[in-house]
Amino acid sequence: MGFAVSIDGRVGSPEEVTLKVTDNGFVFGDSAYETLRTYGGRPFELDRHLRRLRRSIALLGFELQTSDDEIKARIDACLSFASNDESYLRVIVSRGVGDMSYRFERIPEPTIAMYVKPLEPNNEALYEKGASAVIVSIRRNPVEALNPAMKASNLLNNALATREAYAKGAFEAILLNTRGEVAEGAGSNVFIVKGGRLLTPPLSCGLLAGITRELVLEIAAATGVPFEERVLSADDLKTADELFITSTLKELLPMVTLDGVQIGSGAPGPVTKALLSAYRARI
Ligand code: PDD
Repeated sequence: MGFAVSIDGRVGSPEEVTLKVTDNGFVFGDSAYETLRTYGGRPFELDRHLRRLRRSIALLGFELQTSDDEIKARIDACLSFASNDESYLRVIVSRGVGDMSYRFERIPEPTIAMYVKPLEPNNEALYEKGASAVIVSIRRNPVEALNPAMKASNLLNNALATREAYAKGAFEAILLNTRGEVAEGAGSNVFIVKGGRLLTPPLSCGLLAGITRELVLEIAAATGVPFEERVLSADDLKTADELFITSTLKELLPMVTLDGVQIGSGAPGPVTKALLSAYRARI
């Protein structure tokens, strides 16, 4: 079981392959990223992740000339160097190496960094029992300030929200936007089930277009679960029949308490369980 790093195509151990301290990604969080995981050793939904990576880069305002085929070849090299059964994979593209200033014109080209480590899957008991979430005091970055639609490595908003949730003993932080509407989890998207209907906030609430979120909506459409993107309040979440979060690493994870309030029966609900097994079947 191992670790691997790739920087601009050089692959090796994290000790051998390192970044320059003047990389804008390190200095300003001026980079976009994707977190993937493998199933059967292969990265899941790689094309969707690469499409979103390019959308984030466009929002950050720089260009990546490297082709998807070249990025895929580097990912393969990194995964084989690490040679894990299942891996966590992060692909980070920064604006590039600068001189610790805002003289962006001095940056020759983007840096493409990858990091692979053994996957640490969530305990299956968590899916059977469900976990707890809290609504944190920190609000999600407004779209006009640092658009959550871009998966940028400037993650202080998310990191501070998660610290607040952990301090309260919760598994996930749920953030409201500055209008007081539910936006998303610190590292996930949020869904509820109410009266048999699947509901999730629309992208206009200021959130990442999660790939797992997209897949769950596709599965709901294919399996006849009625769903709607709707603005949700904290109260809608607390009075829901079921609540779950989604992410590449968490898949669909039931939340059975929110701010200490029991959700539905206090156990993972039937719609969540059916969607999770359909998701796993798709994998
Ligand atoms: N995070 N919203 C935020 C803020 C996230 O950080 C993530 C995922 C998601 C879900 O996106 P997806 O379904 O595409 O994984 C939503 C990843 C796992 C991370 O930051 O490592």
